[in-house]
Amino acid sequence: MKQIKDKNFVPFIESQLLQARIKELAQLLNKDYDRKNPLLIGVLNGSFMFIGDLFKSIEIECEVTFIRVASYQSTTSTGEVKQILGLKEDIRNRHVIIVEDIVDTGMTMQEVLGQLASQKPASIKILTLLYKPEALKVPLKVDYIGFEIENKFVIGYGLDYDGFGRNLDAIYVVQE
Ligand code: IMP
Ligand code: MG
Repeated sequence: MKQIKDKNFVPFIESQLLQARIKELAQLLNKDYDRKNPLLIGVLNGSFMFIGDLFKSIEIECEVTFIRVASYQSTTSTGEVKQILGLKEDIRNRHVIIVEDIVDTGMTMQEVLGQLASQKPASIKILTLLYKPEALKVPLKVDYIGFEIENKFVIGYGLDYDGFGRNLDAIYVVQE
């Protein structure tokens, strides 16, 4: 068991299982993107560990870069605005794969997808390590999923609780 601040976390997806599934995802990309030179765009911070392992198992020609998503309350509307930071590459006519640690409500990915799609890539897909189908609040097609999980808070392998827990080499779930 791991304690972080006020919460306890118990093992959920062990490292071996994670690594095996990541190799399978890489194999899918090797097949689907052969000779397409895809650009993997990792969403920081959560995806850094996952994309590192995924990238090592990709054997086709490919590139990697990272973005950050900044959220702030808009003064002109009631909604939360999400801004993509850090993308230097020209993605026009590129085959883009957005790599996320987890899709929860789907709102982050919906925004990121929309903003990147407007730059006219040749294709754009979403790949996520974890997916909580019950938490989804917006229509979103997630193309590659590592694990579908129940709607509970998880940490480890890049995912954090208030900044901590990212260094764990497996996924842990909050104990309720
Ligand atoms: P969404 O916009 O609700 O899909 O949220 C996506 C982001 O929320 C993810 O990229 C994570 O940073 C964070 N998040 C959602 N669920 C969890 C969780 O269970 N553990 C840690 N972070 C989470
Ligand atoms: Mg994230």
